[in-house]
Amino acid sequence: MEKTFLMVKPDGVQRNLIGEIVNRFEKKGFKLVGAKLMKVSEDLAKNHYAEHKERPFFGELVDFITSGPVFAMVWEGEKVISTAREMMGKTNPLEAAPGTVRGDFGITVGKNVIHGSDSPESSEREIGLFFNESEITTYDKQD
Ligand code: CMP
Repeated sequence: MEKTFLMVKPDGVQRNLIGEIVNRFEKKGFKLVGAKLMKVSEDLAKNHYAEHKERPFFGELVDFITSGPVFAMVWEGEKVISTAREMMGKTNPLEAAPGTVRGDFGITVGKNVIHGSDSPESSEREIGLFFNESEITTYDKQD
């Protein structure tokens, strides 16, 4: 079954949006298989955002994601990677459709509430960066 990595960013945690965001993915029917409230270290941030390291805003990205607790999650379900991206909305919240997380709760591209893996490769990489195998559960007997 497909898995994706989602993270409520420091702005979303500070604005008490964890419950609202978890609720949307639970109600959709996806299964939460891993979750933790944590601070992102500078090393983890640089690794996570490695593909953006030549961008002018890389420093801001690292500063922001390490600025306060994040809520890191692993979600499972059919087509969860692309569907979660649709539910999150476009990266720039001002361009994100109403009804999406960013469309409903954000206005700035840096503080855009949530991160989600954009492909099976990034999902596997990001889950591996944030979670040990022992931190990911299964619902084998309840499916
Ligand atoms: P995310 O999906 O976490 O992955 C990369 C992040 O870069 C993206 O969300 C945005 O929050 C951030 N980002 C993209 N463009 C800009 C920009 N012009 N200035 C600051 N941050 C940006």
